[in-house]
Amino acid sequence: MIGRPQLLVVDDVEANLVAMEATLEGMDCSVLFARSGNEALKLLLKHDFAAMLLDIQMPGMDGYEVAAHARNHAQTRQIPIIFLTAKHETKEDALRGYGTGAVDFLFKPISPVVLRSKVKVFLELRQRQMQVEQALSDLKVAQAQLVQSAKMAALGELVAGVAHEINNPLAFATSHLRTARDCLDRVAPSVAPLLDEEAAANWSKANNRLTEMNVGLERISELVNQLRTFSRLDEGERKVIDIAECIDSALMILGHRLKEGIVVERKLAGPPRFECYPGPLNLALLNLVTNAIDAVGERGRIVIATEQRGDCIAIAVSDDGMGIPVELQSRVLEPFFTTKPVGKGTGMGLSITYSIAQKHGGTLDITSTLGQGTTMTIVFPQSLGRKN
Ligand SMILES: Nc1ncnc2c1ncn2[C@@H]1O[C@H](COP(=O)(O)OP(=O)(O)OP(=O)(O)O)[C@@H](O)[C@H]1O
Ligand SMILES: [Mg+2]
Repeated sequence: MIGRPQLLVVDDVEANLVAMEATLEGMDCSVLFARSGNEALKLLLKHDFAAMLLDIQMPGMDGYEVAAHARNHAQTRQIPIIFLTAKHETKEDALRGYGTGAVDFLFKPISPVVLRSKVKVFLELRQRQMQVEQALSDLKVAQAQLVQSAKMAALGELVAGVAHEINNPLAFATSHLRTARDCLDRVAPSVAPLLDEEAAANWSKANNRLTEMNVGLERISELVNQLRTFSRLDEGERKVIDIAECIDSALMILGHRLKEGIVVERKLAGPPRFECYPGPLNLALLNLVTNAIDAVGERGRIVIATEQRGDCIAIAVSDDGMGIPVELQSRVLEPFFTTKPVGKGTGMGLSITYSIAQKHGGTLDITSTLGQGTTMTIVFPQSLGRKN
């Protein structure tokens, strides 16, 4: 959202400020006032002004000095300055003024018409600049979201492909193993009495190995199922999912990052199956668990909990990691906000998770205590989906 542009008026004489306020009344901007150079410099650093109307003759720091300071600061260098002066400036004054960044001079008593029309130009300029900045930032967010969803779609496709490729050989290995076992079981009664001690040991070893192979194949088949759950990431429709399966698949994908010292606990008290957008929800879970893993470092505890809250489902990921400083808590949802080293975090995880919560008609709640841990909870109404 683009806010109203702001103007700064600097004058040490209260009556002049009052007159300025009256003159600027009704213009599409908010006006801040400073009664000294120092006050002006403080405000300049805190706000983003469309222009500064700056009195030259002030006790202490005069207008030229304020302008010179403003020019020396990268953050305030660009601000247009209109000097307000009681006397007609000499050529020297004018040069000094323009040298410190003045774009214009106004002479007291100031004509309201002239003042308003000059100010209007700067307000419009600022408004346009803000529109361009907003469009650029919207574009960047859209681009990052596109990259993220393209990445997830590509990953989903890849995973689905791998799962499919593994599935065929897996199916015949499983079926042949069963046949081999059946054949051996069938001949066992007639073969057993013929075996000497060594042959009997080999027979039993072969049987044990077949049992172990079966355990291995079952594990592969479990992994393939989890890959399939994950590869539903790009599905756009609401579906009933099994939350335990989703959690397992997220944890499997992050398996390589779950160090030995990290304990993951599930506390699933909510409904085991519910309706949602499976792909986005998996992604949200993945983002939250990734952040929790980053937060705990080498060792810690991560709890993934679900519960029914009235008509809503809550999915919470808690960690006992480093926590988020209070002053940053309102910023973590911003796109591109990251405290992680360059190349590690894009700062998109939570902003995407937040939009996924919104897509479900819900919210993303954050509670965090520095040094103790963080809980991020997606809460969304269960019934909403059936309406749309
Ligand atoms: N569980 C958490 N504990 C502590 N800080 C967190 C936690 N989750 C998020 N944060 C803070 O919020 C910031 C933003 O998180 P977000 O997931 O949006 O981006 P990221 O993890 O830095 O990068 P990306 O998710 O794109 O790889 C993180 O850099 C971190 O400072
Ligand atoms: Mg993240």
